[in-house]
Amino acid sequence: MKSADLAVLGCEQLATCRGSIPKRKGALQDVGVIEKGCIASHQGKIVFIGDEKNFKEEVRLEESGVRIDGKGLVGLPGFVDPHTHLPFAGTREQEFVLRLEGYTYQQLAEKGLGIQTTVNATRQASKKELLSLCLSRLDRMILYGTTTVEGKSGYGLNFDDEIKQLEALREADRLHSIDIISTFMGAHEVPQEYKSKKNDYIDLLINQVLPEVKEKNLAEFFDVFCEEGVYSIEETKKLARAAKDAGLKIKIHADEFSPLGGAQLAAEEGASSADHLINITEEGIRKLAQSQTAATLLPAVSFFLMLDKKAPVRKLIEEGAIVALATDFNPGSSMTESMLFVLQLAVFTLNMSIEEAINASTANAAYSLARHQDVGSLEVGKKLDLVLYEVPNYPTIVYHLGINPIKHVIKNGKLAVKDGKILKRN
Ligand code: NIG
Ligand code: FE
Repeated sequence: MKSADLAVLGCEQLATCRGSIPKRKGALQDVGVIEKGCIASHQGKIVFIGDEKNFKEEVRLEESGVRIDGKGLVGLPGFVDPHTHLPFAGTREQEFVLRLEGYTYQQLAEKGLGIQTTVNATRQASKKELLSLCLSRLDRMILYGTTTVEGKSGYGLNFDDEIKQLEALREADRLHSIDIISTFMGAHEVPQEYKSKKNDYIDLLINQVLPEVKEKNLAEFFDVFCEEGVYSIEETKKLARAAKDAGLKIKIHADEFSPLGGAQLAAEEGASSADHLINITEEGIRKLAQSQTAATLLPAVSFFLMLDKKAPVRKLIEEGAIVALATDFNPGSSMTESMLFVLQLAVFTLNMSIEEAINASTANAAYSLARHQDVGSLEVGKKLDLVLYEVPNYPTIVYHLGINPIKHVIKNGKLAVKDGKILKRN
């Protein structure tokens, strides 16, 4: 008999997303459904998953243990959101209104708005203010099913404010049950004061900020906005190599607005992921598909910027790329904390199947953060990060739009959200 301190019994369905991870091609079609499924954990780790009969034979729920009735509920692994710009200050609804009046995202950037607006606000905010903003956003994330999230700096764009953003993330990770994985993205833009001397800024990042990030162990990943007018392929390569030498893993904002070749570079440099890919080339698709680098798609960006062009997900999957999904939560191009919404957008706007979208936002998303041994699927030995939806079957999670069907969220074997309300932050 196995001891358990939490058990969920008789779920209508458990979509486990188990199997060999990362998932490519046809494997993305399988979400490993268990009908009338039961799941149990001990000290945060899954000790049992299966049907009711085996549960009774194999598991003993401790007297003080938590028992949840799964009747009328469907369980999925907690979402892993592998791309967010979480620690920002200020919002940009005024610029959104300008976009509605006809300005494009890039025209706003050329006017000195866009990312720069958020840089100004973030520089002015104290670490405490950033922390408080992060915590409120994490609350919204967990209410919409996210249990692990990546967060990037990149709105400080100088030594002190980049470090401040990363320290706010570290503190948020300590105070909130959602696990945060940090990325140093000093190369998100070229700050105003360095526009005419970009190389000096690159040197500052490599020789001053990066060593401090490393010394204080403030980030696991390094990210660059590889884009026309921002960082070129050569500059991205230089930055990425310096970060790798410092022991960080790489992510690249690649081929978002122009087909610069960021996807190929990500594959060649052994990046953990290439993200965006709205304008990826045929060559980029092939290179990514043959690599271990995840193709992280952000359908909320095309939607939010009202772009006709979308990332070519069917081609990516056909060729064998490791497709993951993320929010890209940020105030300019994707003002949403909700992975539930992203899951729905992936199906409605990218032409992904429901199963592909679920695997991409759980198992493959965990892979893109090198966390697939711990989270992203419901398997014995992994953390019990489980979201229980009040729906009759898993397709309804995508089908029923504009509402939040999430009833309970279990993070690390503990009830974090009960009856749609946060029980406690940590
Ligand atoms: O991932 N592409 C660059 N950065 C963000 C947008 C940041 C902003 O507009 O503030 C993105 O879309
Ligand atoms: Fe981004």
